[in-house]
Amino acid sequence: MSLKPLLQLENISKSYKLGSTKTQVLDKVNASFYPGCFSVIAGSSGSGKSTLLNLLGCLDKPDKGEYWLENKKINYANKKEMSNTRMRNFGFIFQSFNLIPVLTAKENVELPMYLQQFSKEGIRNRSEEILKIVGLGDKLKNKPSELSGGEQQRVAIARAIVSKPKLVFADEPTANLDRKNAEKIVALMKNLNKEHDVSFIFASHDDTVINAANELYGIENGCLKS
Ligand SMILES: Nc1ncnc2c1ncn2[C@@H]1O[C@H](COP(=O)(O)OP(=O)(O)O)[C@@H](O)[C@H]1O
Ligand SMILES: [Mg+2]
Repeated sequence: MSLKPLLQLENISKSYKLGSTKTQVLDKVNASFYPGCFSVIAGSSGSGKSTLLNLLGCLDKPDKGEYWLENKKINYANKKEMSNTRMRNFGFIFQSFNLIPVLTAKENVELPMYLQQFSKEGIRNRSEEILKIVGLGDKLKNKPSELSGGEQQRVAIARAIVSKPKLVFADEPTANLDRKNAEKIVALMKNLNKEHDVSFIFASHDDTVINAANELYGIENGCLKS
C-alpha cells in the first residue's frame, strides 16, 4: 500500500441538534485511508457509521475539523466544489440499492457517465464491460424489478465503479441480502479491490463484511479505533 493517504481526517467532530437535545456523534476523529484500501468501519446501530461515511463522501459537512483528499483540503463553504469532488472521485453503494426503477440495468450504470460527459461510444462499451465484470452480462436490459436483490446490488456496484472513482463508499451493502448473496457480493467487491484496484470503505455490522476487512475500525462513543 502506498504511504501517501488518499483521505485524511483531522479532529472531525459532528453533532446533531433536535430541539434542545444535542447528540455528539463524532468527537475529534482522526483517520487516514490509503489507495487500495478495503476498510470496514464497524459499530452498533446508532454509533455513527453512516455519519462518518457521509462526511468522508462529502455528502455532509462536519461541525469542526479538517478533511484532505490527497493533498487538497475540502472547502466546505463551496457546495459546488463539494459536489464536483464527489462526482469526480467517489462512488456510492447503499443498503437499499437506490437504482432508478424505470431504467434498465445498463441505463442505470450509464447515468454517472452521462453526468461526466463521456463519449457515447465510451459509455456503451464501458457499461457493458462493467456489467459483465459483475456477472450481469445477460441482464443488461432488465429493469430493477426484474432482478433479484443480489443482482440489483451488483448493478449498484457496477454504477459505483463505472467512472473509475478513486474510492467507493458502501453503507451496509449486505443488509438487505440473505447470507449467501451477502457472501457473493462481498467476494465480488474483494475481487474488484484485488484485480481492478478499486478502493473501498464500508460501514457495516455484518460479520461477512467485517471478516473480509483489510483494515478494521470500530466506532464507540464518538471515537474511531483501529
Ligand atoms: N439527520 C440527523 N438528525 C438528527 N440525528 C441524527 C441524524 N442522522 C443521524 N442521527 C443520529 O446520530 C446517531 C448516529 O447515527 P448514524 O450515523 O446513522 O449511525 P449508524 O449508521 O452507525 O447506525 C444516531 O443517534 C442517530 O439517531
Ligand atoms: Mg447507518
